[in-house]
Amino acid sequence: MKIFEPFNLKGLSLTSKIAMAPLTRRRCTREHVPVAIMQDYYAQRASAGLIIAEGTSPSPNGVGYANMPGLYNQEQVVEWKKVTDRVHRAAGKIFLQIMHTGRVGHLNNLPIGAQVIGPSAIGQNGEVATYDLGKQLYSVPKELTLQEVEDTIQEYVTCAILAMESGFDGIEIHGAHGYLPNQFLNLSSNQRKDSYGGSRENRMRFLLEVVKCCCDAIGSSKVALRISPFSYADVNEDESELTALYTDLMAPLNALNLSYLHLSHMGEPLPVKFNLWGKIRDLYSGNLMLCGDFSKESAEDALQNKNADLIAFGRDFISNPDLVERLKNNWPLQERDRTYWYTIGEKGLTDYSTYE
Ligand code: PHB
Repeated sequence: MKIFEPFNLKGLSLTSKIAMAPLTRRRCTREHVPVAIMQDYYAQRASAGLIIAEGTSPSPNGVGYANMPGLYNQEQVVEWKKVTDRVHRAAGKIFLQIMHTGRVGHLNNLPIGAQVIGPSAIGQNGEVATYDLGKQLYSVPKELTLQEVEDTIQEYVTCAILAMESGFDGIEIHGAHGYLPNQFLNLSSNQRKDSYGGSRENRMRFLLEVVKCCCDAIGSSKVALRISPFSYADVNEDESELTALYTDLMAPLNALNLSYLHLSHMGEPLPVKFNLWGKIRDLYSGNLMLCGDFSKESAEDALQNKNADLIAFGRDFISNPDLVERLKNNWPLQERDRTYWYTIGEKGLTDYSTYE
């Protein structure tokens, strides 16, 4: 089957076309430093063709969720290096997902001196868990000045460099699901009047500058991008505007020659989006990874029909560390148990068994 064939990802040899999607697990210290059980967790899953490690902030301003990881200081480099060493010793390959939460967070989860920021001072609807205050409304973000936009782009670049120092094989910029670059793309979160707001070209600018600057810093073959046209984050957006936005994005992305482009929809079936995914496939010239509740069969279909080059599996990798072997041998999958997706400690992280 095609999914089990090796794949040459711009010079990086993957043992299969199955990626482990980036999955929020929130096990870090209060200071957003990775902990030892995360080394076991990722090493157990090293038989994935490619692991994409959980969304990790490039900035103290971007750790909006309690206990999510960051990569902006030396202590974090040291702990992430232990993770990549373990994965490499198990013959795996691992990218880091760089995820700045922007307005999706709460001040109580940020280090002292940091601030919740966004393209405009428009709060995200809903509530978020905090360290000390229980569930709280999302903090209203501070609108970034032009200088702060530039500084934030530089934080991504520094993080990309630190990711190389930490031994990652590459990085994936999180441009999806309502986090910072997505906040710049969407009109409902971006009402800026300067060169980063207004027209589609202006709203794409932040994302494209982040990706371009990271390519310049570490090489385009080590930089990937995740986007999510028509995900839950886009409910307040105009459908034709979104279609035009993501269509327009493809020419500048083609010019960047990335490792791969990753499309995600978080497993919610919205038919319109599949037309757009097909359109993106036609317009985008590089490697395309799809993610969204695939089974072995639907993944194989997508590869056979040339709708994708790589398939990412998310939630099944949480409860099945040996997912690739299970799929290969048609062994049953262990059930998803949401109870421990976001809790502290080993339970639900490292205590899932391999098949016997
Ligand atoms: C989450 O933590 O809920 C989360 C993080 C990243 C995503 C989606 C959801 O892309």
